[in-house]
Amino acid sequence: MKTIYFAGGCFWGTQHFFAQVDGVKEAVCGYANGNTLNPKYEEVYTDTTGFAETVKVSYNPERVSLEELTDYFFCVIDPLSLNRQGHDEGTRYRTGIYYTDEAERPVIEKVYAREERKAGVPLVVELDPLRNFYPAEQRHQDYLDKNPEGYCHLPLKVFRYIRLFQDIRLFLGGETDTVAKMADTSALIAEKMRFFWTGFYRVVGNQLVLGPFQGSPACLRIGYGKGVCGTAWKQDKTLVVPDVHEFPGHIACSSLSESEIVVPVHNAQGEVTAVLDIDSDAPATFDSTDALWLEKIIFAIFED
Ligand code: SME
Repeated sequence: MKTIYFAGGCFWGTQHFFAQVDGVKEAVCGYANGNTLNPKYEEVYTDTTGFAETVKVSYNPERVSLEELTDYFFCVIDPLSLNRQGHDEGTRYRTGIYYTDEAERPVIEKVYAREERKAGVPLVVELDPLRNFYPAEQRHQDYLDKNPEGYCHLPLKVFRYIRLFQDIRLFLGGETDTVAKMADTSALIAEKMRFFWTGFYRVVGNQLVLGPFQGSPACLRIGYGKGVCGTAWKQDKTLVVPDVHEFPGHIACSSLSESEIVVPVHNAQGEVTAVLDIDSDAPATFDSTDALWLEKIIFAIFED
């Protein structure tokens, strides 16, 4: 087993998230890199001890790599927010990655540098050796398991997406046939996330042509730049549509569709070859969390 320490804001959510990761043997809430001995929650809460709420992640490196864990960590923090994650503010909620083996630093730095390039500005995530760590009181361990309705700074769908992402990779890893991958990606997303309509449209000439999907019958062809799908293709970017009735030129395959997200799929040359289209029968279902995880799924299954 190996260990890494992640400070990602309130440790209840960070621990619950890493507990969903295959290959993680244990995720323990605690306090890291502070200035007192044996801190108690009430002392750390004063924001005067220097400790950060941190999760000690013990993992089997043969099942999940440090690089993957670090990548997952960046999926559940705002790396540009200093001493604040969600509504929680204070140095105890700062973000940080603390390691116990200097040989691990380059591995973490590779992911850190990629995220910093994406952000285009310096990140405020600490990257330091672990100086000290004290496990938190038992009432904080597995808090969200004990309190399913309890407070969490993370959107609850994150816990479904991390499981979905791993399930899809497990199911489809190594598959080369695009239609087969589209079919099971649609089925797994629809099954796990219970969206109203989930499917792919494929680029054929100057049109999008319906591919594998889950849901009610849909329009067969969509022109370049038409509808949400054709616009996502033309603009080559993920489109999150809180209200389809407000989207100019929206194509209503079903009158029940209220909100939508469309994610482009690329080939090795970076050309759009398809789009993943998901409809919801509820308004404003999708946001940046859906965009992040659906783009991760598309990259892992079709582009990597
Ligand atoms: N609403 C999409 C068309 C596809 S059906 O929703 C499955 C659009 O406007 O492109």
